[in-house]
Amino acid sequence: MKDDHITIYAGSSQPLHTAVLAFCSPTKSFVTADPGYEAGQRAAQFIKAKVSGIPLTKDHAHDVRAMVKADPNAGIIYICNPNNPTGTVTSRADIEWALANKPAGSILLLDEAYIHLSKVWENRGSDLVAAGKDVMILRTFSKLYGMAGLRAGYAMARPDLLAKISSLGAGAMAVTAMAGASASVKVKNLVPERRKKIGDVREDTFAFLDKHNMHYIASDSNCFMLDVKRPAREYMQAMMKEKVWVGRSWPSMPNYSRITIGTADEMEKFKAATLKVMA
Ligand SMILES: Cc1ncc(COP(=O)(O)O)c(C=O)c1O
Repeated sequence: MKDDHITIYAGSSQPLHTAVLAFCSPTKSFVTADPGYEAGQRAAQFIKAKVSGIPLTKDHAHDVRAMVKADPNAGIIYICNPNNPTGTVTSRADIEWALANKPAGSILLLDEAYIHLSKVWENRGSDLVAAGKDVMILRTFSKLYGMAGLRAGYAMARPDLLAKISSLGAGAMAVTAMAGASASVKVKNLVPERRKKIGDVREDTFAFLDKHNMHYIASDSNCFMLDVKRPAREYMQAMMKEKVWVGRSWPSMPNYSRITIGTADEMEKFKAATLKVMA
């Protein structure tokens, strides 16, 4: 990848927002998945761009065919891989299909915030940027690298696409974040080691849920959706009484609560509290 295909930012939120401002408008819509990460759609609503929320497929992948068809005047097709909140992945073949078939004038915005946590890492989309496609990829040090408070991230795209968002704000990264990010990328095996560590705790949590006949959506990330068989808020409040704070729910999946994988000790507390609350 050439240097001029990457711009660093203080996290990936800013390029996510400015990409929406640059590529969407009241006549160019934002196409996203439902449920999906909401920040981009909020930026689109702010500038009065139409938002199409397309349900995930039965396998909880992005329904790229429906997304591409949603609006011939789309500005952005937003694919979060793995998805937040479901932690589910969209195949490389589907991403390539979306790129080849998306409406003229639109870009594919590939949010790879969680990609280091997933087997998809081996099949990440950077080569699509290097090949000069209409794609922008966002990455962050906030997730697997655990540096959310330090604020480090980057956008990768052709220079002409990056220029459209850099005119909307430089997003300077603090030197502390630069030092942390630079040190992190030099640690050989950090990504596969942390992926395995978090993945092992996730699979142990899934084994526990299977054993107790609880239903969840299998994820390849550090979060997953648990079917709590009641409005998720009730489960969240009951868990809070057990001193376990779980994630929020999404309007299209009101009976599911997003669970983030914590340390092995934290997940033991989650298991004990969930058994009690779900009984
Ligand atoms: C899918 C996704 N993209 C982007 C972000 C933005 O994170 P940051 O600005 O810390 O890089 C988040 C944060 O929760 C996220 O879940």
